[in-house]
Parts: sequence; C-alpha cells; structure tokens
Amino acid sequence: MNKNSKWYAGALVLVGVVVGVALVSAGTSVVHWSGSTQFCGTFCHSMDAAYASFQKGQHGKLNSGYEVGCVDCHLKYESVKSISQAQVVGLLWHKAQSGTRSLIGEIQGTMDTPEKQIAMRPELAKHVTDWMKSVNYVTCRGCHDLNNFKPSKDKPMVAQMHKAMADNPATDCVACHTEAGHKY
Ligand code: HEC
Ligand code: HEC
Ligand code: HEC
Repeated sequence: MNKNSKWYAGALVLVGVVVGVALVSAGTSVVHWSGSTQFCGTFCHSMDAAYASFQKGQHGKLNSGYEVGCVDCHLKYESVKSISQAQVVGLLWHKAQSGTRSLIGEIQGTMDTPEKQIAMRPELAKHVTDWMKSVNYVTCRGCHDLNNFKPSKDKPMVAQMHKAMADNPATDCVACHTEAGHKY
C-alpha cells in the first residue's frame, strides 16, 4: 500500500482503535491479576521472604476474614475508596514502574533466594518506608481513618492519639507499627 494514501492512514487508525480496545479490556484483568497477593507473593520468587513475613505480620492473619493484599499497602491509591481519574493514572503509572522494577530483578535473579532477600531487606525496607512517608501513608490511611477510631474502654487514649495525628503529615505509622506489614 502506498504510504501516502489515505487508505493507509485509515488502516493505521483502525488498527490503533482495535489494539486500544483490546488493551483496555484485557488491561483491567491483567492489572487485577498481576496485583493479586497470589501473584505478588508466589509467582515471583523474589518475594518469597516478603510473602512469608507478610503472613506472619499483623495483616496476614486478621481474624475478621478481611483480606489485605500486597498492593493495598504498596500501590498508591489502591486502598483509597473513590479516586479521581488523575489518581487512576497515577496508580497505573506507579504499578507499571514497580512492576517493571520487580520483573527486571526477577529476571536478573538479584533476589532469587530468601538469603539474598533477607540480606537486601534493610535497603528495600528503607526504600518502601521512604516512599510511604513521601505519600503520607496514603495506603494505610485509605483503610484506617485516623479521625474515627472507635475508642476502646481499656485504651481510650489510642483513638484520641490517632485523631491528633490525623492531619499531621509527619506521622510515621511504621515507626510504631513495625509489624503491620511484615514480621521477620
Ligand atoms: C499492611 C501493609 C502491607 C502489606 C499488606 C504488605 N506490605 Fe510489604 N511492606 C510494608 C511496609 C510497611 C514495609 C516497610 C518495612 C517493613 O515493615 O518491612 C514493607 C516492605 C516490603 C518489602 C521490602 C523488604 C522488606 O521485607 O521489608 C517488600 C519486598 C514487600 N514489602 C513486599 C510485599 C509483598 C510481596 C506483599 C504481599 C505478599 C506485601 N509486601 C504486603 C507494608 C505492607
Ligand atoms: C486494605 C485495607 C488496609 C490497609 C491498606 C491497611 N490496613 Fe491495617 N487493618 C485493616 C483491617 C481490616 C484490620 C483489622 C480490623 C481493624 O482492626 O480495623 C487492620 C488492622 C490494623 C492494625 C491493628 C492490628 C491488630 O493486630 O490489632 C494496625 C496497627 C494497622 N492495621 C495498621 C496499618 C498500617 C500501619 C498500615 C499501612 C502500612 C495499614 N494498616 C494498612 C485494613 C488495612
Ligand atoms: C506514636 C506511635 C504511633 C503512630 C505514629 C501510629 N500509631 Fe497506630 N497505634 C499506636 C498504639 C500504641 C496503638 C494501640 C496498640 C494496641 O492496642 O496494642 C495503635 C493502634 C492502631 C490501630 C488499631 C486501632 C484499634 O482501635 O484497634 C490501627 C488500625 C492503627 N494504630 C493505625 C495507624 C496508622 C494507619 C498510623 C499512621 C497514619 C498510625 N497508626 C500511627 C501507636 C501509633
């Protein structure tokens, strides 16, 4: 086909539309599948130690039957209930970035044994907590509304204390809740 013909241009547009529609419809399920705890925790062996320690951590064994997955804490806005379109783009971008980083690591085998993973843990944990601080623990806050903790009879101060921290961007949840995500 002559590259200058309008048929060529038309065909390109058509191909673009078809691919676009296919990506959008496959995309949502790929995005969900690759974000499942099953996928993050078992498909990538780089995450063996993180998965095991997650299961021992505070959210890996909730009695309520409520499931908190890897991405709920690790992906920006994942746990936030209603988000704007700009935030959806932010979420997908963050997902694409961290997914790519994990995939490269997986292929290179930088973290293919639990020993290597434990050795790398301080550095990785710092990376994660730095990121969480930089987004003001948006993922934790998406599920835990610091303004609305139910005051318990035996520890009434807990609700008050969190309420006081609700609007404080310097609140470092993991400094106090060291086993919220993982317990080694
Ligand atoms: C309740 C929130 C939460 C959940 C759920 C969670 N994490 Fe984490 N994760 C954290 C926090 C907080 C850190 C930072 C330091 C720490 O506590 O280990 C972290 C750190 C990490 C690290 C850096 C190394 C390390 O272990 O510290 C990896 C890798 C990781 N998580 C992977 C995962 C995977 C895979 C899952 C799911 C199987 C998961 N996380 C589930 C909160 C969570
Ligand atoms: C997807 C939702 C979700 C996310 C994200 C989440 N949590 Fe939770 N968390 C829960 C649920 C559900 C419970 C158990 C019920 C409750 O106490 O509210 C819980 C319980 C807790 C508890 C009490 C655990 C216990 O054993 O009593 C702490 C502390 C906590 N979360 C801190 C955090 C921190 C810190 C983060 C961020 C690193 C975080 N959570 C992220 C849903 C979440
Ligand atoms: C200065 C330390 C400190 C910081 C910072 C902190 N917490 Fe807590 N948190 C506590 C203590 C202490 C308790 C009570 C623990 C207990 O009852 O065993 C608690 C309890 C909780 C609980 C359980 C509440 C309940 O009623 O059972 C959740 C959920 C929680 N914190 C989430 C968070 C989140 C999310 C952040 C960050 C936005 C955060 N906390 C920051 C110290 C802290």
